[in-house]
Amino acid sequence: MEILLANKAGFCYGVKRAIDLALTTAREKEGNIYTLGPLIHNPQVVQDLAGQGIKEITGLAEAAGGSVIIRSHGVGPDIIQQARDKGLEILDATCPFVARAQRVAREMAEQGIPVYILGDPGHPEVQGILGWTMGKGIVVENADELSRVDHPKVGVVAQTTQPLANYQRLVEALQKQGVEVDARNTICHATGERQRAALELAKEVDVMMVVGGKNSANTKKLAKICQETGTPTYHVESAQELREEWFRGHKKFGLTAGASTPDAIIEEVKRRMKELDQMTNGEEGMNEAMEV
Ligand code: F3S
Repeated sequence: MEILLANKAGFCYGVKRAIDLALTTAREKEGNIYTLGPLIHNPQVVQDLAGQGIKEITGLAEAAGGSVIIRSHGVGPDIIQQARDKGLEILDATCPFVARAQRVAREMAEQGIPVYILGDPGHPEVQGILGWTMGKGIVVENADELSRVDHPKVGVVAQTTQPLANYQRLVEALQKQGVEVDARNTICHATGERQRAALELAKEVDVMMVVGGKNSANTKKLAKICQETGTPTYHVESAQELREEWFRGHKKFGLTAGASTPDAIIEEVKRRMKELDQMTNGEEGMNEAMEV
């Protein structure tokens, strides 16, 4: 058996930073510690954090004093103000790449121009960016949603996880309308790098395993990219979900993980993959896991 690990997989910079902040806070602070929504899209990690006294709330009304951690997705200024009004200490784990998109969107809105935000309208990151545009923001998922622009100049920012091609299409479509476009590529490289590494790997293995939360958009996207290569692909949250039959008759396995998947879970999946392979295919041809 050969297990090849994608050369970019697992925690991205922003998620790691948010978890580190949460763990340091849990160690050093007295009183309630809340996160507004799950800190990351990984149930095992959220459960682990809960065990350390970090409570997930869905709205600030549920907070009864103490500290609130702002997730890597960031929030709009209204939420920051509400937290201040409630006397909560704000611990800001907004990813610097998301913070940049918020800042750029705010600066554009201050110039009085419409700000196109390319992204998923229901995603908290997009909601947060929208909040900084003071009513000037327009969320679109792709260029097809554009209507006639009635302003000589517009701004464009993107949700950090958007595909580059989608962003380029939107910018071109706006330019074709003859308006001046101040386009700022706020896409984060971590997502693209993980997707490219997963795609390359999926093409060269018999089976792909994608590890990450079932509610994690970037993990689901990784699984979709791998599936589209025609290679059998399984999306699991933990090692317990692996099935013996996935290993029967196969030798070369690929492994990747979403940006909110901790190394410990990836390692556990790798260990269990080896066990299940031994159970189904015997010990022959067992190689050490390696990176590609
Ligand atoms: Fe930040 Fe990029 Fe991760 S925006 S949270 S480093 S995917």
